[in-house]
Amino acid sequence: MSQTTAPLTFEVDRRADVRPDAEREAVLANPGFGTHFTDHMVTATWRKGEGWTEGKVTAYGPITLMPSAAVLHYAQEIFEGMKAYRHEDGSIWTFRPEANAARMARSARRMTLPELPEEDFLGSLRALLEVDHAWVPPYDGSEKSLYLRPFMYASEAFLGVRPAAEVTYSVIASPAGAYFTGGLKPIRLWLSKDVSRAGRHGTGAAKCGGNYASSLAGQLEGIEQGCDQAVFLDAETETNIEELGGMNLFFVTRDDKLVTPALTGSILEGVTRDSVLELAKDFGLTPEERAIPVAEWIDGVSSGEVREVFACGTAAVITPVGELVWAGGSAPSTAGEGGGEVTRAIRQRLLDLQYGRADDTRGWLTRLV
Ligand code: COI
Repeated sequence: MSQTTAPLTFEVDRRADVRPDAEREAVLANPGFGTHFTDHMVTATWRKGEGWTEGKVTAYGPITLMPSAAVLHYAQEIFEGMKAYRHEDGSIWTFRPEANAARMARSARRMTLPELPEEDFLGSLRALLEVDHAWVPPYDGSEKSLYLRPFMYASEAFLGVRPAAEVTYSVIASPAGAYFTGGLKPIRLWLSKDVSRAGRHGTGAAKCGGNYASSLAGQLEGIEQGCDQAVFLDAETETNIEELGGMNLFFVTRDDKLVTPALTGSILEGVTRDSVLELAKDFGLTPEERAIPVAEWIDGVSSGEVREVFACGTAAVITPVGELVWAGGSAPSTAGEGGGEVTRAIRQRLLDLQYGRADDTRGWLTRLV
């Protein structure tokens, strides 16, 4: 469902009651993840036959939806996760936004939502950052950023099951510190055997809320076992590693391969995943995308074949993975206190690129303000 209307413009209605400087600075000093939001938000509306209209930047606040809005019943919804980084000179940049725009378009096609053209996607981020740029944490060598959450949902008030004829697009922004508290501490993972996240020809590759909802039971099981996240296997054979629900997984092997599960249609095509595969070559590693039986992980950490395991995503950046636990067993960590050498090196390179400390030879950065 693409559309051919002129580029969206975003009319700005600045709120008079923006948060006082001192209050904003207190939030930016200790933002946590996902609990504080900036003063404004973006919205735009799509109607069947009309395309995208009514681009606006307004006060961040509650949205009005009819109880019959299709998203509340049939979960026709997608989102993206991105970050805005302040560089040392005060300018504000984002990382590979065209990849997020393209993924959102793919997710939209899968969920029969309208595609938002790349220039409108970028325009919406710029429009929000122009008014809320003070919410991007200062450059101070820490890993703070402004997390950007573009999302789109079926806002039509209609209970019949069909693609909605009215859809809302929105962007909200949230100052962010580390996704996992406690520094570079390896995360402990639960191997979800009874709960699958996605199935063949399903929506696993789309960034839709339903995939995250379906992962929660596995994650809760893991939390009850003292783990941080759950690892999901392919639903068909229950053998191959897929992903964590909110992060992709990588393995560093004894012979310097950087291995990650191949994209089978049920794994999210992570932008960080793709960037890590690309960066692998800079570190003398051979990237490999293929099926990875979970037995290879379990045996590999004992034999020394698997040197390091890490998880990656926009929110979590790169996080060392420690122990893998399942009902009745566990495989030990190879991560030490703060993650292995390769994990830390790739993580540092990614952060250096994002914060403008390394040469952006691949043209991955886009200036927003
Ligand atoms: C992201 O990394 O941006 C995500 O959307 C995943 C979620 C765990 C926050």
